[in-house]
Amino acid sequence: MNAAVRAVVRYGISKGCDVYAIYEGYQGLVDGGDCIRKMDWKSVRGWLSIGGTTIGTARCMPFKTREGRLQAAENLVKKGIDSLIVCGGDGSLTGADVFRSEWGGLIDELQQSGRITAEEADAYQHLTIVGLVGSIDNDMASTDITIGAVTSLHRICESVDSINTTALSHSRAFVIEVMGRHCGWLALMAGIATGADFVFIPERPPPGDDWETAMCDVTHRHRELGKRKTVIIVAEGAIDRSLNPIKAKHIKNILTDRLGLDTRVTTLGHTQRGGSPAAFDRILATIQGVDAVEAVLRATPETPSPLIGMSSNKVTSGPLMKAVELTHEVAKAISEKNFARAMELRDPQFAE
Ligand code: F6P
Repeated sequence: MNAAVRAVVRYGISKGCDVYAIYEGYQGLVDGGDCIRKMDWKSVRGWLSIGGTTIGTARCMPFKTREGRLQAAENLVKKGIDSLIVCGGDGSLTGADVFRSEWGGLIDELQQSGRITAEEADAYQHLTIVGLVGSIDNDMASTDITIGAVTSLHRICESVDSINTTALSHSRAFVIEVMGRHCGWLALMAGIATGADFVFIPERPPPGDDWETAMCDVTHRHRELGKRKTVIIVAEGAIDRSLNPIKAKHIKNILTDRLGLDTRVTTLGHTQRGGSPAAFDRILATIQGVDAVEAVLRATPETPSPLIGMSSNKVTSGPLMKAVELTHEVAKAISEKNFARAMELRDPQFAE
């Protein structure tokens, strides 16, 4: 995300904009004051190689209330800000779009209560919102890839490679739980990139009622072929066809009891969200940050808030709320046990 902030700051300045950073996410927008800081060229020096977000982020309850958003609107007007580029997941981006849709009413209320002048109300009739997707989960529809996902995938691969050392030496089995919330992208890609024996993901539960036997059959076959190690990757949101969670500990017990494998569980946790960003993420965030500024400059009050995405290696710009709705459709398809639809929505390439 730092690379995105850096690109927005520097490209914005090069286009003649005054660029501010909101520290601490929506909380900073509501708190105002020192949380809204004017940035210059040097403010973002060295940020490309720093993971996470140096301007901070925070879950914010006040922004979910109208009173909080009223305060946020006042803070923006007072600083002279009329456009927001928001980098986050579907929750943050939906919050931004709600803010934009009620902006006119907020401005009227601020003027009527004397918190802003009539001139300010006139000058800030519209708020432009542009979304960038920052998420390790790669769970947003309408974009092939989200900022942070590839770095996270690298961290997972490094960890699995390290675990392979013990697995091979001791001829053990490892069940490795990876993040992703309700999305299986990290698990699936890690499975491909590390040559795992079996992968569990939410969008495509293992076929049949008896996934335990299916997994044991595959594992046994691989062992018969001479493999000394077994690696099973399980997404934290993995489920079976009855929508019951599939837990790493349960998988471990099956491998131990049925196949007699010396098995360990490793939950990778927040190691997956840290460290230096992969080159791909630095480049992705940079070109999308540039496009986000371009989107601000071409926005009109009539056009829906855009989401900057990526499709077939090209930067895209499409309606933000449409992407959010499609993302929610995946969860709906899963809850209706329509796994083919869920997989197709996530990635048509893997639908079959
Ligand atoms: O959405 C990103 C993510 O890392 C998920 O993969 C994970 O489930 C969650 O956030 C962890 O959140 P927290 O850091 O609040 O425990």
